[in-house]
Amino acid sequence: MKIDVHFSPSSIDELSLKEKVCIVIDVLRATSSIATAFSNGAKEVFPVNTVAEAGKIASNTFGGIVLAGEKNGVIIEGFHLGNSPSEYTEEKVKNKTVVFTSTNGSNAILKTRFAKISLLASFLNIGKVSNFLVEKNSDFTIICAGKNNLFCVEDTVCAGMIISFISETIDVELTDSAVAALVLYKNFGHNILDTLKNCEHGNFLCEIGFENDLTVCSSCDLLSVIPIYSNNSIKNFERKDNL
Ligand code: MLT
Repeated sequence: MKIDVHFSPSSIDELSLKEKVCIVIDVLRATSSIATAFSNGAKEVFPVNTVAEAGKIASNTFGGIVLAGEKNGVIIEGFHLGNSPSEYTEEKVKNKTVVFTSTNGSNAILKTRFAKISLLASFLNIGKVSNFLVEKNSDFTIICAGKNNLFCVEDTVCAGMIISFISETIDVELTDSAVAALVLYKNFGHNILDTLKNCEHGNFLCEIGFENDLTVCSSCDLLSVIPIYSNNSIKNFERKDNL
């Protein structure tokens, strides 16, 4: 099994992902919030790149829509939810369609629109996603959302944790970037919360009052969901999907 890692989506040509199994990671906080939404019964999530697109979908749809996401870390004016996982409660999202936009996460997800399979991972659902990949036993590419099209520590450490887990059971061939992710995980993985507190985006979130989100996003393997992006929307993977 060959594993590759992109530290940010910036240099990815989306057509190059056409035949690939992709894993998108935005620990702080998009893929953590989306995993939480599915864990609390959301029907589907539509990722979009701009606030205008989100508004357009909402105005063309009758009822049942939750507008969610952030700009500069905070809830967008007129939206129902921001980007803190704790906002995505059963009361707010159960059986609802969520339209989601964020600074880096939604862009990374949309980059995988042509992928054969695109799954969303975070520390919260890392066990479920890793087990799926072990069962699937085929090559895959991890796409870290990064920060402003650059590398970020937290997504790369999460990528390294997935690689570490899989390489315990399967022979893996790693690209140089996958080796680097694994090394970072070995260095920073022993205390995820500390890692989130000390990274650039974690610092920013603390400054604007979201320190609690770091605690929530640092929990490993808490949620039994596999968000899967296909045909423009994200749904929770079910066995019957037969991928
Ligand atoms: C993003 O997509 O850039 C993030 O999820 C930002 C955040 O809300 O922390």
